[in-house]
Amino acid sequence: MDKLIITGGTQLSGELRISGAKNAALPILAATLLSEEPVSVGNIPHLHDITTTMQLLGQMGIQLTIDEKMNIEVDSSTITKYEAPYELVKTMRASILVLGPLLSRFGEAHVSLPGGCAIGSRPVDIHIDSLRKMGADIQVEAGYIHAKASRLKGCKLVLDKVTVTGTENLLMAATLAEGTTIIENAAKEPEVSDLAYFLNALGAKITGIGTDVLTIEGVDKLANKDIHYDILPDRIETGTYLIAAAITRGKVKLKDTRPDTLDAVLDKLVEAGAEITTGDDWIELDMHGKQPKAVSVRTAPYPAFPTDMQAQFTAMNCVAEGVGTITETVFENRFMHVQEMQRMGANIQLESNTAICTGQKGLTGAPVMATDLRASASLVLAGLAAEGDTLVDRIYHIDRGYDHIEEKLAQLGATIRRIPR
Ligand code: EPZ
Repeated sequence: MDKLIITGGTQLSGELRISGAKNAALPILAATLLSEEPVSVGNIPHLHDITTTMQLLGQMGIQLTIDEKMNIEVDSSTITKYEAPYELVKTMRASILVLGPLLSRFGEAHVSLPGGCAIGSRPVDIHIDSLRKMGADIQVEAGYIHAKASRLKGCKLVLDKVTVTGTENLLMAATLAEGTTIIENAAKEPEVSDLAYFLNALGAKITGIGTDVLTIEGVDKLANKDIHYDILPDRIETGTYLIAAAITRGKVKLKDTRPDTLDAVLDKLVEAGAEITTGDDWIELDMHGKQPKAVSVRTAPYPAFPTDMQAQFTAMNCVAEGVGTITETVFENRFMHVQEMQRMGANIQLESNTAICTGQKGLTGAPVMATDLRASASLVLAGLAAEGDTLVDRIYHIDRGYDHIEEKLAQLGATIRRIPR
């Protein structure tokens, strides 16, 4: 397995372009299953999860072409099977996002249950129960979800929990259902809104976008021609590189991003002492060489502080001035990066779902191991602020969600290189 070696101590500075959002690209590529016409999707990030999604659609018999500018053209008219096999789903749980579109357009879907996950149990009961309410016949056996429906029926759904991919699956399923579907307690993440705008571009009739009540008037087919849609920029990649500058007391300008999707994160960075300036599609952070101040955050669904930025702020708190508390309310086990940071000398106490970080001047480089996508990114960030070398193992987690992370950090002056296995 590839490793990354980081030599810490450099104050990062420079400019970076942000890639398209992984968590918007995955549902939008799944949503191409709903279109009668070929669709082109742009600003696709160069990530392993995108490759997996293309494999998932390709093994269904779907034609995919990708050009040098990372535009993907999808033609689902050649589909031959309606299945998401375990071999692919076990590597990417977001494969569950083909369930809604397959069922809604083709009346049939056989999707492997996503297994457990390092950060929590992550069940898909809300996806399944809600599709049953829309009239689907769903049997779960031998690790697979077998779903059939002559035509889904629109209805009112009140989701027990705010679920991002749950909302996305139901949004896609409702576009071709008979009648109107209302989804209450819907997730409001920008990636959910990006999916809704894409579906409307295909010919869907969705209102309430950006709110927690989505209304979808079912149509017979999505057949708008010559649609091209560019994915919105990745707010979590943006936040990760802002922390890379903050944790090294540096300065960074991030372009092709969306500051309006990061209010909670930017507020906390200002509280940590960063000077933040923004334009429509750029963000600049300047620490003026100062040690960050510790901040306290509590994760919750959008627009509150995102759980996907929790590990990165934990890393910054470890080298900040003062004591900061990090409370995780979305997932039950998202502190696996803490033990690894403690091996780098971090002073963190875990109490139930809260990490109490007592900041100090610096950390000491050490060999550490990644466990999930954002935890692994946070270990790289900690390595940037540590004395000496940090070796991050199992970085396939990182490659799933960060487009060329070592090249981008090196562009900011970091001393970082990949050691192939
Ligand atoms: C999405 O996961 C993201 N993944 C995650 O990003 C992100 O951390 C998460 O939303 C929360 O924002 C994608 O968009 C591909 P949820 P998702 O359903 O949809 C419980 C990353 O790092 N729940 O919103 O799987 C669940 O257990 C990844 O890019 C049920 O109980 O998360 C969790 O506690 C990690 N039953 C909570 O809801 C269900 O049927 C939120 O999960 C569904 C969810």
